[in-house]
Amino acid sequence: MEPDNPLAAGLAGDRHAPPCVLVVFGASGDLTSRKLMPAVEQLAQRRLLSTSFAVVGVARTEWSDDDFRARMREAVKDAGPEWEHLTSRFRYVAGDYADSATFDTLATVLDELDAELGTAGSRVFYLATVPGVFAGVAKALGDGGLASPGADGGFARLVIEKPFGHDLESARQLDVDLHAVFAEEQIYRIDHYLGKETVQNLLALRFANAIFEPIWNRNYVDHVQITVAESVGVGHRGGFYETAGALRDIVQNHVMQVLALTAMEPPVTIDAQGIRDEKVKALRAIDVLTPDEVADHVVRGQYDAGWVEGEEVVGYRDEEGISDSSVTDTYVAMRLRVDNWRWAGVPFYVRTGKRLPKRLTEVAMQFREVPHLPFPAGLAQGLGANALVLRIQPDEGITLRFGAKVPGQAFEVRSVSMDFSYGAAFLEESPEAYERLLLDAMIGDPTLFIRSDEVEQAWKVCEPILAAFSDPSYPVARYEAGTWGPSAAEDLLERDGRKWRRP
Ligand code: BG6
Repeated sequence: MEPDNPLAAGLAGDRHAPPCVLVVFGASGDLTSRKLMPAVEQLAQRRLLSTSFAVVGVARTEWSDDDFRARMREAVKDAGPEWEHLTSRFRYVAGDYADSATFDTLATVLDELDAELGTAGSRVFYLATVPGVFAGVAKALGDGGLASPGADGGFARLVIEKPFGHDLESARQLDVDLHAVFAEEQIYRIDHYLGKETVQNLLALRFANAIFEPIWNRNYVDHVQITVAESVGVGHRGGFYETAGALRDIVQNHVMQVLALTAMEPPVTIDAQGIRDEKVKALRAIDVLTPDEVADHVVRGQYDAGWVEGEEVVGYRDEEGISDSSVTDTYVAMRLRVDNWRWAGVPFYVRTGKRLPKRLTEVAMQFREVPHLPFPAGLAQGLGANALVLRIQPDEGITLRFGAKVPGQAFEVRSVSMDFSYGAAFLEESPEAYERLLLDAMIGDPTLFIRSDEVEQAWKVCEPILAAFSDPSYPVARYEAGTWGPSAAEDLLERDGRKWRRP
């Protein structure tokens, strides 16, 4: 049974995982060795795991328990001394996800671990697989009797990673399939951006301070800019990326989550229901664009060859696995409206792209100009509007830009910055996103996971844009790798008398 208040332990600071088994489907894959195992190892090093804990890997690859243990040891560089000991308890089940025998074997292994370690029938099933098998694995877990909480007070939880569907309809279908087996409370949908400290800090900044919230609205904010820039290209993920594009890969999930946290109303309590209720209300307030508005407010871009961070790189169409007539969006810029009392009339400009000059995610609140500048003409040329910039990554922190007098006889004013930097202010190291989220899933704290209504609402915003992009004649604005995107994106803001920030 799920505890009455699963958050009590999580939020109140007792951040220790209860006895449980982490079952990883896709155990021989990239996500498991690159993200999940390093996160488990870190949790072990910080002594946040129960002494009754084990990992069971499931995948088609024909490995033995020892092969799996050896691979997982290799996966974590500079592991602490407990890792060798912990991995010695790991078990592995080789099998096809479509074969019920795989789940029979899994059930036997889990019973053995319950008896050996006292894991009390508590399981976190992590689907580190391609999304195409989510529904099938969930059903097989149900058929094998593994989806119900254990009789002796244990729990069964399912963790899945985006993409949650390919569009609104497939997202709804996925929910129907998952809900046929797991209750919504058992499903933990990961958006790793929510595991980032600086994304969570949006809540602290807004709701732990008296000075920001009073100006966090249409009376003071001129517009908001959200940037998720990446310097990387599509690497070896071309096949996947061709079916996704930046809109599905970044906007539908990461950008919508950051936007929701930026725009939402104060929750009554910082817990799963409080935060997710407010996020979904904010998402619901985003005006769904009409086809004409899409044409006006949304720029689809794709990178050509160029130079990024001192390296010469090929254009998207010359990447591995990409057709030379591809129109996939590697860049998207758009102007959205959040039509509610707080934000009416304040544009939210959003942009994301690959092969931009650097990796950088930020939210910039750009404030209105002062109503009247009492300085002699010409002495305020270096003065811009006030801005509060939340630097989500890298160089995590917050910058406040304001005007100051330039030293000297004249009354010249210019913009200066006041900086808060995480690295300088705190000695504590930020946990990696996966570390935080895995622990939350074990504790049973769904605050930083996405609820099904949020997923739906985010797809609703993307639907008309997806429809436009599905037409190959929708313009593909080209940009040189290593630049800040196509000129059409500049025009989008210039038409409104505004400019993108140059971070
Ligand atoms: C993933 C996308 O969700 O986020 C990738 O699929 C992208 O394409 C990545 O590179 C970016 O994550 P981060 O944490 O590096 O900003």
